[in-house]
Formats: sequence, C-alpha cells, structure tokens
Amino acid sequence: MTRPLIVALDGPAGAGKSTVARLVAERAGLSLVDTGAIYRTVALLALRGGTPVDDGAALGALATTLPARLRFVVQRGENRVVLDDEDVSAAIRTPDVSTAASAVARHPAVRGALLELQRALGRRGAGSVLEGRDIGTIVFPDAEVKAFVTASPEERARRRMLELAERGLGEGETYERVLAAIVARDKQDSERAVAPLRPAADAVVIDTTGKTLDEVTGAVIALVAAHR
Ligand code: DC
Repeated sequence: MTRPLIVALDGPAGAGKSTVARLVAERAGLSLVDTGAIYRTVALLALRGGTPVDDGAALGALATTLPARLRFVVQRGENRVVLDDEDVSAAIRTPDVSTAASAVARHPAVRGALLELQRALGRRGAGSVLEGRDIGTIVFPDAEVKAFVTASPEERARRRMLELAERGLGEGETYERVLAAIVARDKQDSERAVAPLRPAADAVVIDTTGKTLDEVTGAVIALVAAHR
C-alpha cells in the first residue's frame, strides 16, 4: 500500500486557506482535515462548561475527550463538525469562539492532547489536506507538500466580513473590529511559546493578496502533482 499523501496548508486566519484546502482536497481526491475546527470545539466546550481559557490543565483534560467525541462528516457535499451527536459547525464559527480558540490553543497540554488525533485523521485513506497553523512544522514535519498561505491583514479582514455575512453572523460586526481581532489573533498565534504560527523552513509561501482563488488552488495542486 502506498503511504497516505499529506498536504500541510498552514497560515493565518482569513488568508483563504479553508477554501483552497477544500478545493485542493476535492481535486486531488484527498480527505480534508480542518484542524482549527478541533481547537474551536475545545473552546466551545470550555465556554459552555465555564472552564477558564487560561486553565491549561483543565483544557488539556477536556481536549483528551475529543477523539471519542468529535467526528468530521460529509453531508450533502458539505463538511460538518459533529460533537457527540450535535452538529456544531455553526456554533464553532462565532467571534466569541474564535477568540477563545486562539487562547485555548496556547496551552501545551491542549496541543499535546490533540496531536495524535490530527495525525490519525490525516493518515486515513489516500491521505489528506490538513489546514492549520503548525501542520508543516509539528503535526506532519515530513508532509509531502507544505504550503504557507498568507495575505495582508486588511485583505483578510475584508474576506472575513464577507464570510460572516454569508453565514448570517455579520450582524453588528464592523470592518474595524474584525481587523483589530485579526491583528490581535495573529499576534497571539505567532508569539505563543509552543508551536507558534510560522512557515516551515521547507514550506512554499503563497501570498494570496490580489490573487484569484483559481491561481492559489492551481499553485497548490501543482505542488501535489509534483509528488505523485
Ligand atoms: O483556522 P481557525 O481560525 O479555525 O483556527 C482557530 C484557532 O485555533 C486559531 O486562533 C489558532 C488555533 N489553531 C492552532 O493553534 N493550530 C492549528 N493547527 C489550527 C488552529
């Protein structure tokens, strides 16, 4: 059996990573693993259960329960995130959960607890496109394909506004607030002590500012094709 092909797609929030990851997975016949959704689910559980986002030990314990509780399901062509028997796909995308997810992701106990889960999900079948922050550096340092997808903070804020509006979550949100949240989250994600957001030394950096989705997807597909 050939070994599963791992495509690591890392980069900051709102760089267009998710859409590119989905299209590349579809076109290359690979599974899609949205690792941010895993951190978001831990954050959702913490918010619901009243666990403080600075309590690393308690959050780590919460994270260890996820392998038995979390499933990624494709339903009518859409990727859904299911926690126990609840579809939490929308609940994990609120601004509150975004902020909490970034805080939760700082804790080594959380990251350690989620490492094996991400690896197991990635190695299924023909392989996977995993999108995240530390896939090429920590989760799959030997990934066949590594791309770091980025864009200017302003461009990312514009895209996030569109995305929130499309999901019906844009009510009361302003561009300025979204931009400030992105800048703050970038800072927190790139300055944290464990697994900070940075491109792997051997990652191809793709700046999507001013590029079309087709151009970016094509660039990643070309990297995948070179490994087949
Ligand atoms: O990609 P996202 O916005 O859904 O990720 C939510 C948070 O989870 C983000 O603030 C950083 C964190 N994260 C992480 O630390 N490592 C990953 N591999 C994926 C996400």
